[in-house]
Amino acid sequence: MRKVFQQRSVTRALTCIALLRVSGCRGKQNVLDVAGPQAEGVAHLWTGFLIVMSIIWVLVAIATARAAFKCTTQKLIEPPLPHNPSQNKFLTWVVGSLVGVTTIILFAFLFGEFFVARSASAMSQDVNALNIKIIGHQWWWEVQYMDAVASNIVMTANEIHIPTDRTIQLQLDSADVIHSFWAPNFEGKKDLVPGHPTLMWFKASRPGSFRGQCAEFCGMQHAHMRFVILTEEPSKFEQWLADQRKSAPDPKTDEQKRGQHVFMTTTCIMCHSIQGTDAGGLVGPNLTHVASRTMIAAGSRPNTVGHLAGWIMDPQKIKPGVLMPQHTLTPQDLRALLEYLETLK
Ligand code: CUA
Repeated sequence: MRKVFQQRSVTRALTCIALLRVSGCRGKQNVLDVAGPQAEGVAHLWTGFLIVMSIIWVLVAIATARAAFKCTTQKLIEPPLPHNPSQNKFLTWVVGSLVGVTTIILFAFLFGEFFVARSASAMSQDVNALNIKIIGHQWWWEVQYMDAVASNIVMTANEIHIPTDRTIQLQLDSADVIHSFWAPNFEGKKDLVPGHPTLMWFKASRPGSFRGQCAEFCGMQHAHMRFVILTEEPSKFEQWLADQRKSAPDPKTDEQKRGQHVFMTTTCIMCHSIQGTDAGGLVGPNLTHVASRTMIAAGSRPNTVGHLAGWIMDPQKIKPGVLMPQHTLTPQDLRALLEYLETLK
C-alpha cells in the first residue's frame, strides 16, 4: 500500500515538472532563461518568492500535521483546560510575532518589486534607445522600426530583430482588441490597449533566438499569436536593418514575373504591401522581405515553401477565424506565386 502511494507521488511530481517544462519554463520562451537585465531582476524576485514561500509552506504544513496528530491522539471528551494566564500571554506573543514577520516579508517583497520595476523604467532616459513600434492585430504583430526620416522606417511582422546591449524602447498599441506583449526572456507583460499607446523598455545581453506570445485572450487564435525575437551583435543588426530598408527586387525569370502578376491581380494585393511595387495593403503583414523570416502565420509554421503553399491555399485550416481568405489558384499559378515570394529576401 505504502509503495503504491510512493509511486503515485513520484508520478504526480514528474507530471508537474513535465507540465512546467511545456508551459513556459522551457527553451526559447522561458522566464528563468534570463537574456537581459530586466529579466534578471524578475528572476531574482521569483527565486526569492519561491524560497520564502516554500519555507512558509513547510512550516505551516508541519504545524497543521502536528495539530491534526494531536487531535486524533487526545481523548475527545476532555475537561476544558483551566484558565492559565501565563500560557495565554505566551500564545498572544506568538501570534503577534507571526503577524509582524508576515508584514515584514510582504513589505520586503513590495520594495523588491518596486526596485525591479524602477530599474526598467530608468531606461526611458536613454537617448540612444532603439525605437520600435509594435501594433497588435488579430492575430499577428506589426513591427515598425521608427526613424526621423520617413523613408528609413522599416515595416515587418512577427519577427523582431534587436541589437545586444542597447536599450530597446517599444511603443505598444493595438489595432483592434486588447493584446499583451510578453517576451519572458527579457521583461514582464505589457497590455496593448486600442487607442492608449504605451511604452516599455528592455535590453538583450546575448545573441540568440527567443520566442514571445500574446498574453491576453484576444479571440479564437489568441494561442497562435506568437512572435520571435532575434538578438544580434550590433553590426549584424545594422546590416539586417539596412537590407530591410531596400525595396523588393524585381522578378527576373518568367516564372517569377508570372508569380508577381498573380500577386497583383488576385486578393493578395488588397491586404499586403510589397515595397517597390503597386501592392500597398495595410490589413495584413508587410511582405517586402517575407522570405527572410523564419516563421509564417505569427509563429505558427516554419517559413518553408510547403507551409507557405498550405497557408496561401487554406489559411482557415491552419488558423480558423483568421482574416486571410482561402484562395483558388491553379497549381501553375500557385507555383509561380511561391517562386516570386521566395525572391523577397
Ligand atoms: Cu492577441 Cu491574445
